Amino acid sequence: MDVVFLAPAYPAEMPEFVRGLAEVGARVHGVGDSPETSLPDKTRRHLTSYLRVPRILDEEDVLRRVAAWTRGRSIDRIETLWEPLVLLAARLRDALGVPGMSHDAVLGFRDKQLMKERVAAAGLRVPHARRCTSVAAVRAAAEEVGYPLIIKPIAGAGSADTYRVDGPADLDDVLNRTRHVPEVSVEEFVEGEEFTYDTICVDGRPVYENVAQYLPRPLVARTEQWISPVICTVRDLDRVADGVRFGRRVLGALGMGTGFTHMEWYRKANGEVVFGEIGCRVGGARLIDQMNFTSDHDLYREWARAVCWKAWEGRDERRFNTAIVFKRAEGSGRIVKIDGVDGVLREFGPAVVVEDLLPVGAPRRDWKQTLVSDGYMMVRHPDWDEALAIAGAVATRVRMYARP
Ligand SMILES: Nc1ncnc2c1ncn2[C@@H]1O[C@H](COP(=O)(O)OP(=O)(O)O)[C@@H](O)[C@H]1O
Ligand SMILES: [Mg+2]
Repeated sequence: MDVVFLAPAYPAEMPEFVRGLAEVGARVHGVGDSPETSLPDKTRRHLTSYLRVPRILDEEDVLRRVAAWTRGRSIDRIETLWEPLVLLAARLRDALGVPGMSHDAVLGFRDKQLMKERVAAAGLRVPHARRCTSVAAVRAAAEEVGYPLIIKPIAGAGSADTYRVDGPADLDDVLNRTRHVPEVSVEEFVEGEEFTYDTICVDGRPVYENVAQYLPRPLVARTEQWISPVICTVRDLDRVADGVRFGRRVLGALGMGTGFTHMEWYRKANGEVVFGEIGCRVGGARLIDQMNFTSDHDLYREWARAVCWKAWEGRDERRFNTAIVFKRAEGSGRIVKIDGVDGVLREFGPAVVVEDLLPVGAPRRDWKQTLVSDGYMMVRHPDWDEALAIAGAVATRVRMYARP
């Protein structure tokens, strides 16, 4: 089993997937743009070979180089779990005749308008939306969609350049701010709770499923710096059976193949489930570690097993609601003080499974650029309300301070 794995060093979770592939018996051939000597230890230790390319995002160039590099060798899989590369991986598979999801199937997980059209064609509820490439088109779409509405990039990530517009008076301002975005989606604002639906699929069939709730919704979390955003996996999937049923139908509508999916969905106050978006890759910001702590298994390895051998040996039992709490320091510059961690540990002890806050002296991260912000803690509890109460204690009592 020879697996070409794109971007084996970045984002931070990728070395663990390389490890997972090696552990299920694959020879892993990495392709990335960092020099081989600067690869993380875990990546280097588990790679059989490595191709350094000048620019990993230059599709034509990477296509040519990987084709030349693999000529005369048999390659069984070409995989990536980084959103900007999922289409490139598909093009490589198509070009080299390697099994896996086609470029067309992956496009349905990458192009936000196309995915909504395909999901809607299956009779599922999506926000009313228009794809726009000009100011005039946005204005016309706004009239048609009505207020409040959302303007966001067709190829977006991490809520970047995403704005809620409450009325025509705010439209000019948002048009100015999104002038650099070539193509936007203008869509109906869906009021409600926001969840994920995550799977590992084998030939379109979910062998693993997860739901997590965002508290608050990501767009709100990204607008107010004082918030410590929480995301909590739902132990008892019966609470979100509506979203799970909906998610399975979405996978069918989009022709999912084998691998991770990460979907977002909304539940309105009247109970209606509305599609948000979906990617054919793992969720970011340590969601995989939350899923691992939810069931005490290793999805880095189980993803690899699904991809290589179409098998599932993870745990089906869900033991905990696992919450991640992202922290943002008060002030700018370097971290000078962290309060409240000892108190939280004394009170909640074993419920706290990860503490990964920036240390004193470290420069703050840009909280708009990375959800992980200035670090995070993870807590878990079998009872939903207890889990949220502990997460709330971390959100309010752990405080980080920074100074220039
Ligand atoms: N139609 C919508 N109605 C309400 N909120 C939305 C809508 N579209 C996006 N949002 C908000 O913006 C956030 C980011 O949008 P999303 O489509 O998930 O893009 P991405 O996560 O790729 O940036 C969502 O998590 C949600 O909070
Ligand atoms: Mg999203």
